[in-house]
Amino acid sequence: MLPVDAPGDALPSQPRGSTLIGRSQALKVVQQEVEYAARSDAKVLITGASGVGKEVVAHLIHQRSRRRHAPMLTINCAAMPDTLLESELFGHARGSFTDAYRDKRGLFEAANSGTVFMDEVGEMSLRMQALLLRFLETGEIQRVGDERNRVNANVRVVAATNRRLPERIAAGEFREDLYYRLNVIHITIPPLRERKDDVTPLLDHFLRLFAAEHGVPLPQCSPDAVAALEAYDWPGNVRELRNIAERLTCRCPGGLIHADDLPLEVRTGSAVVESAPARVASPAPAQALLDRILLKGESFWDVAYEPFMARDLTREDVRHLVRVGLEQTRGNYKALVQLFNMDPQDYKRFLNFLRKYGCHMPFQRFRMAPGREIE
Ligand SMILES: Nc1ncnc2c1ncn2[C@@H]1O[C@H](COP(=O)(O)OP(=O)(O)OP(=O)(O)O)[C@@H](O)[C@H]1O
Ligand SMILES: [Mg+2]
Repeated sequence: MLPVDAPGDALPSQPRGSTLIGRSQALKVVQQEVEYAARSDAKVLITGASGVGKEVVAHLIHQRSRRRHAPMLTINCAAMPDTLLESELFGHARGSFTDAYRDKRGLFEAANSGTVFMDEVGEMSLRMQALLLRFLETGEIQRVGDERNRVNANVRVVAATNRRLPERIAAGEFREDLYYRLNVIHITIPPLRERKDDVTPLLDHFLRLFAAEHGVPLPQCSPDAVAALEAYDWPGNVRELRNIAERLTCRCPGGLIHADDLPLEVRTGSAVVESAPARVASPAPAQALLDRILLKGESFWDVAYEPFMARDLTREDVRHLVRVGLEQTRGNYKALVQLFNMDPQDYKRFLNFLRKYGCHMPFQRFRMAPGREIE
């Protein structure tokens, strides 16, 4: 029998932040909805702006549901082209396209009895929407290139988007029937600016988290810093707060944080760019990430992969790490796996990940001109 590959670089989603920190009334409502969703097996649609905690909520629902002993697998629907997304979700048969050397299970099969978290579901093409709808209606999986065989999978779908889907439906970009299928339970997470009561507990939580992670004494916040943080508009929501907390932990270890220590945009109360996607600068400079890998011996999966999948790191950050690593290994990807503290068996998965997310670089350049900055 032919070996069957596991889906691409899909990993069981790591339970990140298994509690929802906050004390606002709005967050209490979300917490109640999570409990309610966890008790049922209905599909859930989680909406809210970027960085509000949609993925945290998805994890909580799975962790508290009766499916918690089965896997929860995550797919970012915006991160890959249609053909790849189809094969990731439904699997493919050997020979169905170049490079399809083996039969491969898709995510829906691999997560059987568990949950599939479909992030950025609003970005799916109309064709993929039709395929997803067919699966949701029949529970049947048809692998790419295998017209005859169908398998059934019992998965719960939890989807998330920061798009306003009704607007996309009106524009003819999202199927209304799919919307109603996904939207059995709808959880909306309000932006942080509408629940300012959560700022202090979140800040406290993240300062403790990063002080422990970086092994530095816990800093304290002065009243003027707290006032500025509470007055700020938080266009990047909790993710932005988390990033600022990490910077403050490194900047004022064990000290008192004053308003002057806060980033300019917080001090002046101006949002970075109002209409830009609420993605803020990387939490730590690339050098700090490299130090964690090269000096502290942490693995690429923890330092770069996880935050990248959570969109706390940009593609450029990952490319930078890879570029610096390849310069050291003179373009040798096998040596890079070792340098980045990964298991040698992770080689293929590492390359798949880099290719899928556009972070792969031709090794030849590093052989010809070691140390030279490329691109
Ligand atoms: N209430 C909360 N308590 C603790 N951590 C939180 C909370 N809300 C968000 N976070 C943290 O903030 C960061 C962003 O959260 P998350 O990834 O869930 O946002 P998101 O809504 O999925 O964003 P995007 O739309 O950009 O994918 C994560 O590091 C997450 O752990
Ligand atoms: Mg998310």
